[in-house]
Amino acid sequence: MKMMIKGKAVLRGEVEISSSKNAILPILAASLLTDGNVEINKVPNINDVVIISKLLTHLGIKVKQESSQLSLGGACNAIHPPYELVRQIRASFLIMGPLLARKGKVRVALPGGCSIGTRPIDLHLKGFQALGADISLNSGDVIAKANQLIGTHIYLDYPSVGATENILMAAAMAKGVSYIENAALEPEIVDLANFINSMGGRINGAGTNVIKIKGVKELKGVNYTPIPDRIEAGTYMVAVAATGGNAIIKNIVPEHLKAISAKLIESGAEVIESDDHLQIKRESRIKPVYIKTLPYPGFPTDMQAQFMAYLSCSLGSSVISESVFENRFMHVQELSRMGADIKTEGRTAIIRGVKKLTGAKVKASDLRAGAALVIAALTAQGDSILVESEHVDRGYENIANKLNAMGAQIENE
Ligand code: UD1
Repeated sequence: MKMMIKGKAVLRGEVEISSSKNAILPILAASLLTDGNVEINKVPNINDVVIISKLLTHLGIKVKQESSQLSLGGACNAIHPPYELVRQIRASFLIMGPLLARKGKVRVALPGGCSIGTRPIDLHLKGFQALGADISLNSGDVIAKANQLIGTHIYLDYPSVGATENILMAAAMAKGVSYIENAALEPEIVDLANFINSMGGRINGAGTNVIKIKGVKELKGVNYTPIPDRIEAGTYMVAVAATGGNAIIKNIVPEHLKAISAKLIESGAEVIESDDHLQIKRESRIKPVYIKTLPYPGFPTDMQAQFMAYLSCSLGSSVISESVFENRFMHVQELSRMGADIKTEGRTAIIRGVKKLTGAKVKASDLRAGAALVIAALTAQGDSILVESEHVDRGYENIANKLNAMGAQIENE
Protein backbone atom coordinates (compact mmCIF):
# COMPACT_ATOMS: atom_id res chain seq x y z
CA MET A 1 0.00 0.00 0.00
CA LYS A 2 0.97 3.61 -0.59
CA MET A 3 0.19 6.97 0.99
CA MET A 4 0.34 10.11 -1.11
CA ILE A 5 1.07 12.99 1.23
CA LYS A 6 0.90 16.68 0.34
CA GLY A 7 3.58 18.81 1.97
CA LYS A 8 3.41 22.11 3.86
CA ALA A 9 0.35 21.12 5.88
CA VAL A 10 -0.56 23.02 9.04
CA LEU A 11 -2.56 20.83 11.44
CA ARG A 12 -5.45 22.51 13.28
CA GLY A 13 -8.68 21.49 14.96
CA GLU A 14 -8.87 18.32 17.01
CA VAL A 15 -8.21 14.60 16.96
CA GLU A 16 -9.65 11.78 19.07
CA ILE A 17 -7.15 9.19 20.26
CA SER A 18 -8.06 5.48 20.04
CA SER A 19 -7.50 2.84 22.69
CA SER A 20 -3.95 1.67 23.23
CA LYS A 21 -2.69 -0.98 20.82
CA ASN A 22 -0.05 -2.09 23.32
CA ALA A 23 -2.67 -2.44 26.05
CA ILE A 24 -5.22 -4.29 23.91
CA LEU A 25 -2.81 -6.93 22.55
CA PRO A 26 -1.87 -8.36 25.98
CA ILE A 27 -5.47 -7.96 27.17
CA LEU A 28 -6.68 -10.06 24.23
CA ALA A 29 -4.03 -12.67 25.07
CA ALA A 30 -5.14 -12.57 28.73
CA SER A 31 -8.71 -13.34 27.67
CA LEU A 32 -7.39 -16.91 27.23
CA LEU A 33 -7.28 -17.09 31.03
CA THR A 34 -11.06 -17.56 31.17
CA ASP A 35 -13.77 -19.57 29.41
CA GLY A 36 -16.22 -16.79 30.28
CA ASN A 37 -17.30 -14.10 27.85
CA VAL A 38 -14.94 -11.19 27.52
CA GLU A 39 -16.06 -7.94 25.92
CA ILE A 40 -13.51 -5.28 25.05
CA ASN A 41 -14.88 -1.82 24.25
CA LYS A 42 -13.41 0.87 22.00
CA VAL A 43 -11.15 -1.52 20.09
CA PRO A 44 -9.33 0.31 17.29
CA ASN A 45 -9.59 -0.96 13.75
CA ILE A 46 -5.90 -1.72 13.23
CA ASN A 47 -4.11 -4.64 11.64
CA ASP A 48 -2.35 -5.84 14.80
CA VAL A 49 -5.75 -6.39 16.43
CA VAL A 50 -6.98 -8.25 13.33
CA ILE A 51 -3.94 -10.57 13.45
CA ILE A 52 -4.22 -11.38 17.16
CA SER A 53 -7.98 -11.97 16.72
CA LYS A 54 -7.24 -14.48 13.95
CA LEU A 55 -4.74 -16.15 16.22
CA LEU A 56 -7.32 -16.51 18.99
CA THR A 57 -9.83 -17.87 16.45
CA HIS A 58 -7.29 -20.54 15.48
CA LEU A 59 -7.05 -21.50 19.14
CA GLY A 60 -10.82 -22.15 19.22
CA ILE A 61 -12.03 -18.83 20.63
CA LYS A 62 -15.16 -17.31 19.06
CA VAL A 63 -14.26 -13.72 18.24
CA LYS A 64 -17.06 -11.35 17.24
CA GLN A 65 -16.78 -7.71 16.34
CA GLU A 66 -19.77 -5.36 16.63
CA SER A 67 -18.83 -1.80 15.74
CA SER A 68 -15.87 -1.13 18.06
CA GLN A 69 -16.66 -3.85 20.59
CA LEU A 70 -14.83 -7.16 20.40
CA SER A 71 -16.37 -10.12 22.20
CA LEU A 72 -14.52 -13.33 22.86
CA GLY A 73 -16.04 -16.52 24.13
CA GLY A 74 -15.65 -20.25 24.41
CA ALA A 75 -12.86 -22.51 25.48
CA CYS A 76 -9.50 -22.59 23.85
CA ASN A 77 -8.87 -26.02 22.34
CA ALA A 78 -5.44 -25.73 20.74
CA ILE A 79 -1.95 -24.94 22.00
CA HIS A 80 0.02 -24.52 18.79
CA PRO A 81 -1.01 -21.50 16.64
CA PRO A 82 0.04 -21.46 12.98
CA TYR A 83 3.43 -19.96 12.18
CA GLU A 84 1.89 -17.86 9.39
CA LEU A 85 0.03 -15.77 11.99
CA VAL A 86 2.62 -15.83 14.76
CA ARG A 87 5.39 -14.50 12.56
CA GLN A 88 3.40 -11.39 11.64
CA ILE A 89 3.29 -9.93 15.11
CA ARG A 90 5.65 -10.13 18.04
CA ALA A 91 2.84 -9.77 20.56
CA SER A 92 1.61 -13.23 19.52
CA PHE A 93 4.22 -14.57 21.94
CA LEU A 94 2.02 -13.16 24.71
CA ILE A 95 -0.35 -16.12 24.39
CA MET A 96 2.38 -18.29 25.88
CA GLY A 97 1.86 -17.23 29.53
CA PRO A 98 -1.94 -17.66 29.60
CA LEU A 99 -1.91 -20.93 27.62
CA LEU A 100 0.78 -22.38 29.86
CA ALA A 101 -1.33 -21.47 32.91
CA ARG A 102 -4.57 -22.85 31.44
CA LYS A 103 -3.42 -25.84 29.41
CA GLY A 104 -0.14 -26.88 31.01
CA LYS A 105 1.47 -26.97 27.57
CA VAL A 106 2.03 -24.49 24.77
CA ARG A 107 4.02 -24.41 21.56
CA VAL A 108 4.71 -21.09 19.80
CA ALA A 109 7.09 -20.20 16.98
CA LEU A 110 9.72 -17.61 17.84
CA PRO A 111 8.02 -14.24 17.35
CA GLY A 112 8.08 -11.80 14.44
CA GLY A 113 6.83 -8.19 14.34
CA CYS A 114 8.70 -4.96 13.64
CA SER A 115 12.28 -5.51 12.56
CA ILE A 116 13.97 -3.42 15.22
CA GLY A 117 16.96 -5.38 16.46
CA THR A 118 17.11 -8.93 17.69
CA ARG A 119 14.43 -8.67 20.43
CA PRO A 120 15.14 -11.87 22.37
CA ILE A 121 12.63 -13.61 24.65
CA ASP A 122 15.05 -14.99 27.24
CA LEU A 123 13.40 -13.05 30.10
CA HIS A 124 9.96 -14.46 29.29
CA LEU A 125 11.36 -17.99 29.34
CA LYS A 126 13.37 -17.41 32.52
CA GLY A 127 10.14 -16.34 34.21
CA PHE A 128 8.21 -19.41 33.05
CA GLN A 129 11.07 -21.64 34.20
CA ALA A 130 11.11 -19.99 37.61
CA LEU A 131 7.38 -20.75 37.86
CA GLY A 132 8.24 -24.42 37.26
CA ALA A 133 7.82 -24.80 33.50
CA ASP A 134 10.01 -27.03 31.42
CA ILE A 135 11.21 -25.19 28.28
CA SER A 136 12.51 -26.78 25.09
CA LEU A 137 13.09 -25.69 21.49
CA ASN A 138 11.98 -27.69 18.48
CA SER A 139 12.22 -26.59 14.80
CA GLY A 140 12.03 -22.89 15.65
CA ASP A 141 9.21 -23.38 18.15
CA VAL A 142 9.38 -22.80 21.88
CA ILE A 143 7.62 -25.50 23.87
CA ALA A 144 6.71 -24.87 27.51
CA LYS A 145 5.19 -27.50 29.80
CA ALA A 146 4.10 -27.49 33.42
CA ASN A 147 1.55 -29.62 35.25
CA GLN A 148 1.14 -26.88 37.83
CA LEU A 149 2.85 -23.48 37.89
CA ILE A 150 4.08 -22.57 41.38
CA GLY A 151 4.37 -18.98 42.62
CA THR A 152 7.88 -17.67 43.26
CA HIS A 153 10.16 -14.59 43.14
CA ILE A 154 11.19 -13.63 39.61
CA TYR A 155 13.81 -10.97 39.13
CA LEU A 156 13.98 -9.47 35.63
CA ASP A 157 17.47 -8.43 34.51
CA TYR A 158 15.76 -5.71 32.47
CA PRO A 159 12.24 -4.30 32.93
CA SER A 160 10.92 -5.83 29.70
CA VAL A 161 7.33 -4.92 28.93
CA GLY A 162 6.50 -8.20 27.18
CA ALA A 163 8.24 -10.39 29.78
CA THR A 164 6.45 -8.62 32.64
CA GLU A 165 3.10 -9.15 30.86
CA ASN A 166 3.71 -12.78 29.94
CA ILE A 167 4.90 -13.73 33.43
CA LEU A 168 2.07 -11.75 35.02
CA MET A 169 -0.49 -13.72 33.01
CA ALA A 170 1.10 -17.08 33.83
CA ALA A 171 1.41 -16.23 37.53
CA ALA A 172 -2.21 -15.05 37.71
CA MET A 173 -3.29 -18.71 37.80
CA ALA A 174 -0.23 -20.27 39.44
CA LYS A 175 -0.43 -21.94 42.84
CA GLY A 176 0.63 -19.49 45.55
CA VAL A 177 2.14 -16.02 45.40
CA SER A 178 4.57 -14.67 42.80
CA TYR A 179 6.61 -11.49 42.83
CA ILE A 180 7.96 -9.92 39.65
CA GLU A 181 10.92 -7.79 40.70
CA ASN A 182 12.35 -5.04 38.48
CA ALA A 183 9.05 -5.25 36.60
CA ALA A 184 8.25 -2.84 33.76
CA LEU A 185 6.28 0.23 34.90
CA GLU A 186 4.45 1.02 31.64
CA PRO A 187 0.78 2.10 31.88
CA GLU A 188 -0.08 -0.87 29.65
CA ILE A 189 1.13 -3.21 32.45
CA VAL A 190 -1.22 -1.45 34.89
CA ASP A 191 -4.07 -1.82 32.40
CA LEU A 192 -3.39 -5.54 31.98
CA ALA A 193 -3.33 -6.02 35.77
CA ASN A 194 -6.60 -4.06 36.08
CA PHE A 195 -8.14 -6.24 33.38
CA ILE A 196 -7.08 -9.47 35.11
CA ASN A 197 -8.22 -8.14 38.50
CA SER A 198 -11.61 -7.29 37.02
CA MET A 199 -11.84 -10.96 35.97
CA GLY A 200 -11.20 -11.95 39.61
CA GLY A 201 -7.39 -11.88 39.66
CA ARG A 202 -5.39 -10.74 42.68
CA ILE A 203 -2.56 -8.55 41.45
CA ASN A 204 -1.02 -5.73 43.47
CA GLY A 205 1.69 -3.22 42.72
CA ALA A 206 1.37 -3.00 38.93
CA GLY A 207 2.98 0.31 37.93
CA THR A 208 5.69 -0.13 40.58
CA ASN A 209 8.81 -2.24 40.16
CA VAL A 210 7.57 -5.10 42.34
CA ILE A 211 4.31 -6.74 41.31
CA LYS A 212 2.70 -9.21 43.70
CA ILE A 213 0.45 -11.81 42.12
CA LYS A 214 -1.66 -14.18 44.18
CA GLY A 215 -2.63 -17.03 41.89
CA VAL A 216 -6.34 -17.89 41.60
CA LYS A 217 -8.00 -21.09 40.38
CA GLU A 218 -10.50 -19.47 38.08
CA LEU A 219 -11.10 -16.18 36.30
CA LYS A 220 -14.46 -15.01 34.97
CA GLY A 221 -15.66 -13.08 31.94
CA VAL A 222 -15.72 -9.29 31.99
CA ASN A 223 -16.55 -6.10 30.07
CA TYR A 224 -13.51 -3.82 29.86
CA THR A 225 -12.40 -0.55 28.25
CA PRO A 226 -8.63 -0.20 27.72
CA ILE A 227 -6.60 2.99 28.25
CA PRO A 228 -6.03 5.51 25.44
CA ASP A 229 -2.99 5.06 23.22
CA ARG A 230 -0.20 7.30 24.54
CA ILE A 231 1.98 6.67 21.49
CA GLU A 232 -0.78 7.57 19.06
CA ALA A 233 -1.41 10.73 21.14
CA GLY A 234 2.30 11.54 21.16
CA THR A 235 2.52 11.04 17.41
CA TYR A 236 -0.29 13.56 16.78
CA MET A 237 1.29 15.98 19.26
CA VAL A 238 4.56 15.85 17.35
CA ALA A 239 2.75 16.13 14.01
CA VAL A 240 0.96 19.29 15.16
CA ALA A 241 4.19 20.79 16.57
CA ALA A 242 6.17 19.83 13.46
CA THR A 243 3.71 21.57 11.13
CA GLY A 244 3.56 24.70 13.34
CA GLY A 245 -0.11 23.97 13.97
CA ASN A 246 -2.46 24.35 16.89
CA ALA A 247 -4.82 21.52 17.87
CA ILE A 248 -6.60 19.66 20.65
CA ILE A 249 -5.69 16.03 21.31
CA LYS A 250 -8.73 14.34 22.88
CA ASN A 251 -9.09 11.15 24.94
CA ILE A 252 -5.70 11.03 26.63
CA VAL A 253 -4.22 10.54 30.09
CA PRO A 254 -1.83 13.54 30.43
CA GLU A 255 0.14 11.67 33.12
CA HIS A 256 1.13 9.05 30.51
CA LEU A 257 2.50 11.75 28.20
CA LYS A 258 4.85 13.55 30.61
CA ALA A 259 8.13 12.67 28.86
CA ILE A 260 6.71 13.54 25.44
CA SER A 261 5.21 16.85 26.62
CA ALA A 262 8.47 17.78 28.39
CA LYS A 263 10.52 17.35 25.21
CA LEU A 264 7.98 19.21 23.08
CA ILE A 265 7.98 22.13 25.54
CA GLU A 266 11.81 22.12 25.58
CA SER A 267 11.73 22.35 21.79
CA GLY A 268 9.59 25.50 21.92
CA ALA A 269 6.06 24.08 21.59
CA GLU A 270 3.28 24.91 24.04
CA VAL A 271 1.35 22.13 25.75
CA ILE A 272 -1.73 23.03 27.78
CA GLU A 273 -3.08 20.04 29.71
CA SER A 274 -6.62 19.34 30.90
CA ASP A 275 -8.08 16.23 32.51
CA ASP A 276 -8.61 14.12 29.41
CA HIS A 277 -7.33 16.31 26.59
CA LEU A 278 -4.57 18.77 25.80
CA GLN A 279 -3.82 21.59 23.42
CA ILE A 280 -0.56 21.65 21.52
CA LYS A 281 0.76 24.49 19.41
CA ARG A 282 4.06 25.84 18.15
CA GLU A 283 4.71 29.34 16.91
CA SER A 284 8.49 29.82 17.40
CA ARG A 285 11.32 27.95 15.61
CA ILE A 286 12.11 24.43 16.81
CA LYS A 287 14.87 24.38 19.44
CA PRO A 288 17.24 21.41 19.43
CA VAL A 289 16.89 18.93 22.31
CA TYR A 290 18.66 15.90 23.77
CA ILE A 291 16.63 12.72 24.01
CA LYS A 292 17.48 9.36 25.51
CA THR A 293 14.93 6.58 25.18
CA LEU A 294 14.32 4.66 28.40
CA PRO A 295 11.75 2.35 29.95
CA TYR A 296 8.68 4.20 31.35
CA PRO A 297 8.47 6.83 32.83
CA GLY A 298 11.46 7.74 30.65
CA PHE A 299 11.12 8.85 27.05
CA PRO A 300 9.42 6.08 24.99
CA THR A 301 11.42 4.37 22.26
CA ASP A 302 8.15 4.22 20.29
CA MET A 303 8.33 8.05 19.93
CA GLN A 304 11.99 8.23 18.93
CA ALA A 305 11.50 8.16 15.16
CA GLN A 306 8.71 10.78 15.20
CA PHE A 307 10.88 13.18 17.24
CA MET A 308 13.77 12.64 14.84
CA ALA A 309 11.55 13.73 11.95
CA TYR A 310 10.44 16.79 13.96
CA LEU A 311 13.97 17.78 15.03
CA SER A 312 15.24 17.50 11.44
CA CYS A 313 14.20 21.14 10.99
CA SER A 314 15.37 22.48 14.37
CA LEU A 315 17.55 25.54 14.82
CA GLY A 316 20.79 23.72 15.72
CA SER A 317 21.85 20.15 16.49
CA SER A 318 19.89 17.58 18.49
CA VAL A 319 21.13 14.27 19.85
CA ILE A 320 19.00 11.15 20.21
CA SER A 321 20.31 8.17 22.09
CA GLU A 322 18.37 4.90 21.68
CA SER A 323 18.96 2.78 24.77
CA VAL A 324 16.02 0.35 24.55
CA PHE A 325 16.47 -1.33 21.16
CA GLU A 326 19.53 -1.90 19.05
CA ASN A 327 19.20 -1.04 15.39
CA ARG A 328 16.17 1.25 15.66
CA PHE A 329 17.39 3.93 13.26
CA MET A 330 15.97 2.56 10.00
CA HIS A 331 14.12 5.83 9.40
CA VAL A 332 17.39 7.81 9.25
CA GLN A 333 18.14 6.78 5.69
CA GLU A 334 14.63 7.69 4.54
CA LEU A 335 14.63 11.03 6.37
CA SER A 336 17.97 11.78 4.71
CA ARG A 337 16.32 11.20 1.33
CA MET A 338 14.01 14.07 2.23
CA GLY A 339 16.97 16.34 2.99
CA ALA A 340 17.53 15.71 6.71
CA ASP A 341 21.12 15.88 7.97
CA ILE A 342 21.49 12.96 10.39
CA LYS A 343 24.56 10.97 11.36
CA THR A 344 24.43 7.85 13.48
CA GLU A 345 27.14 6.30 15.58
CA GLY A 346 26.04 3.06 17.18
CA ARG A 347 22.92 3.87 19.17
CA THR A 348 23.33 7.66 18.93
CA ALA A 349 22.02 9.94 16.20
CA ILE A 350 23.11 13.53 15.69
CA ILE A 351 20.51 15.60 13.90
CA ARG A 352 21.70 18.89 12.43
CA GLY A 353 18.66 21.00 11.75
CA VAL A 354 18.05 21.95 8.11
CA LYS A 355 15.86 24.78 6.80
CA LYS A 356 13.38 22.47 5.14
CA LEU A 357 12.68 18.90 4.11
CA THR A 358 11.74 18.11 0.53
CA GLY A 359 9.02 15.70 -0.56
CA ALA A 360 10.30 12.32 -1.81
CA LYS A 361 9.37 8.69 -2.34
CA VAL A 362 10.21 6.95 0.93
CA LYS A 363 9.63 3.56 2.50
CA ALA A 364 8.14 2.64 5.88
CA SER A 365 10.40 -0.04 7.35
CA ASP A 366 8.32 -0.44 10.50
CA LEU A 367 5.34 1.07 12.31
CA ARG A 368 6.95 4.03 14.09
CA ALA A 369 9.45 4.71 11.30
CA GLY A 370 6.42 4.96 9.01
CA ALA A 371 4.73 7.42 11.40
CA ALA A 372 7.91 9.52 11.42
CA LEU A 373 7.92 9.66 7.63
CA VAL A 374 4.28 10.76 7.59
CA ILE A 375 5.24 13.66 9.90
CA ALA A 376 8.27 14.53 7.76
CA ALA A 377 6.15 14.46 4.60
CA LEU A 378 3.51 16.76 6.14
CA THR A 379 6.18 19.40 6.86
CA ALA A 380 8.13 18.99 3.62
CA GLN A 381 8.11 21.22 0.60
CA GLY A 382 6.41 19.27 -2.19
CA ASP A 383 4.60 15.96 -2.19
CA SER A 384 5.77 12.59 -0.89
CA ILE A 385 4.86 8.99 -1.52
CA LEU A 386 5.16 6.62 1.42
CA VAL A 387 5.44 3.05 0.19
CA GLU A 388 4.76 0.00 2.38
CA SER A 389 2.43 2.23 4.38
CA GLU A 390 0.63 -0.88 5.65
CA HIS A 391 3.20 -0.82 8.48
CA VAL A 392 1.57 2.41 9.68
CA ASP A 393 -1.91 0.84 9.63
CA ARG A 394 -0.68 -1.83 12.05
CA GLY A 395 -0.82 0.71 14.85
CA TYR A 396 -2.72 3.85 13.80
CA GLU A 397 -6.47 3.72 13.28
CA ASN A 398 -7.61 5.77 10.24
CA ILE A 399 -4.47 7.87 10.30
CA ALA A 400 -5.11 9.47 6.90
CA ASN A 401 -8.71 10.42 7.84
CA LYS A 402 -7.69 11.75 11.23
CA LEU A 403 -4.91 13.91 9.74
CA ASN A 404 -7.08 15.05 6.83
CA ALA A 405 -9.74 16.23 9.29
CA MET A 406 -7.00 18.46 10.74
CA GLY A 407 -6.06 19.96 7.39
CA ALA A 408 -3.66 17.43 5.86
CA GLN A 409 -4.10 16.06 2.35
CA ILE A 410 -3.31 12.37 2.36
CA GLU A 411 -4.63 9.69 0.03
CA ASN A 412 -4.28 5.97 0.56
CA GLU A 413 -3.67 3.93 -2.54
C1 UD1 B 1 6.83 -3.46 23.93
C2 UD1 B 1 5.96 -2.72 22.95
C3 UD1 B 1 6.81 -1.94 21.95
C4 UD1 B 1 7.79 -1.04 22.69
C5 UD1 B 1 8.57 -1.82 23.74
C6 UD1 B 1 9.45 -0.94 24.62
C7 UD1 B 1 3.98 -4.12 22.79
C8 UD1 B 1 3.16 -5.03 21.96
N1 UD1 B 1 5.11 -3.68 22.23
O1 UD1 B 1 7.61 -4.38 23.16
O2 UD1 B 1 5.94 -1.16 21.13
O3 UD1 B 1 8.71 -0.49 21.78
O4 UD1 B 1 7.67 -2.52 24.60
O5 UD1 B 1 8.69 0.05 25.22
O6 UD1 B 1 3.61 -3.76 23.89
N2 UD1 B 1 14.51 -7.99 25.88
C9 UD1 B 1 15.40 -8.99 26.20
N3 UD1 B 1 14.90 -10.20 26.57
C10 UD1 B 1 13.57 -10.43 26.65
C11 UD1 B 1 12.67 -9.42 26.33
C12 UD1 B 1 13.17 -8.19 25.94
O7 UD1 B 1 16.61 -8.80 26.14
O8 UD1 B 1 13.18 -11.56 27.00
C13 UD1 B 1 15.04 -6.68 25.44
C14 UD1 B 1 14.62 -6.34 24.02
O9 UD1 B 1 15.48 -6.93 23.10
C15 UD1 B 1 14.71 -4.84 24.02
C16 UD1 B 1 14.29 -4.48 25.43
O10 UD1 B 1 14.44 -5.65 26.20
O11 UD1 B 1 16.03 -4.42 23.79
C17 UD1 B 1 12.87 -3.97 25.55
O12 UD1 B 1 11.97 -4.94 25.08
P1 UD1 B 1 10.52 -5.15 25.71
O13 UD1 B 1 10.33 -4.16 26.82
O14 UD1 B 1 10.35 -6.58 26.02
O15 UD1 B 1 9.60 -4.75 24.50
P2 UD1 B 1 8.40 -5.56 23.87
O16 UD1 B 1 7.55 -6.11 24.96
O17 UD1 B 1 8.88 -6.44 22.80
